[in-house]
Amino acid sequence: MTIAKKTIIITGASSGLGAALAIEYANINVRLFLFGRSEEKLLNIELHCKARHAEVRIVSVDVQNQQLMHDSITKICQEHKVDIIIACAGVSAGTLVGPETSNQVNKILNTNLHGSLHTIIPALPFMIKNKSGNIVIISSMAGLIGLSSAPSYSASKAAVKIFGDALRGYLQQFKVKVSVVIPGYIDTPMTAVNDFPMPFKISAAKAARIIIQGVQKDKPVIAFPLIIYILLKLVNLLPTCLIDYINSKLPGKPAFD
Ligand SMILES: NC(=O)c1ccc[n+]([C@@H]2O[C@H](COP(=O)([O-])OP(=O)(O)OC[C@H]3O[C@@H](n4cnc5c(N)ncnc54)[C@H](OP(=O)(O)O)[C@@H]3O)[C@@H](O)[C@H]2O)c1
Repeated sequence: MTIAKKTIIITGASSGLGAALAIEYANINVRLFLFGRSEEKLLNIELHCKARHAEVRIVSVDVQNQQLMHDSITKICQEHKVDIIIACAGVSAGTLVGPETSNQVNKILNTNLHGSLHTIIPALPFMIKNKSGNIVIISSMAGLIGLSSAPSYSASKAAVKIFGDALRGYLQQFKVKVSVVIPGYIDTPMTAVNDFPMPFKISAAKAARIIIQGVQKDKPVIAFPLIIYILLKLVNLLPTCLIDYINSKLPGKPAFD
């Protein structure tokens, strides 16, 4: 018996976690649509995925561009029944050299929040019509608490988490699943610039495997490592003055160049 090929869209697939997800998914019978800006990096990931016998198309587009994202995602959904769509593209920066500039804040919110919405929204009518599919939103532990070291990154990740939680409730009636992914530190180019200890940091490949298993089980929330997740939930129960104290001790995250 042949198992039907799954169609999977991944943004941020040219690097780090998105690339690791693409390579892990390539081990099963899949048709991958890999989104990113850098065509060169996408071509490299495409090679890895094809070596694992996946069917691959690369799409070089900026997730901030609503029209291009709408057109690209709609075209894929018209041609294929999309099984999984993963909004992974993201950028991060912080307050190491001073308060965030408007440019930094706009870039982070436009990429992490609007970019995720530009990815998911065009696919919704198709998934609702098909009464199937998994939507996967990459949030972060940084979205569970307002981090003094990265205010707009924190805000963007909190926003996509809440959006995903809300969407899950709405889409239940249509049998479309939503998983919000809440990772701790992952070893990727994004964290390579951090000049401070990153407890429980794991490889991108391991993070990808955890996410894939969670999505397979239609988990609403995929949070790892569990210990940090529980700790942050508990921190949120503390009085604000204590949270502020902890926050004031956090090491700064570098700003954009
Ligand atoms: N690393 C961690 O510890 C960690 C922890 C929690 C959550 N996350 C989240 O995981 C996701 C992946 O991060 P990562 O660590 O893998 O970082 P990364 O290695 O820097 O990868 C970021 C990806 O996002 C893409 N991207 C960035 N801006 C884009 C834009 N405007 N348009 C299209 N694509 C864009 C990049 O593609 P191009 O360079 O080709 O544009 C790249 O593929 C992010 O959402 C991040 O917030 C990471």
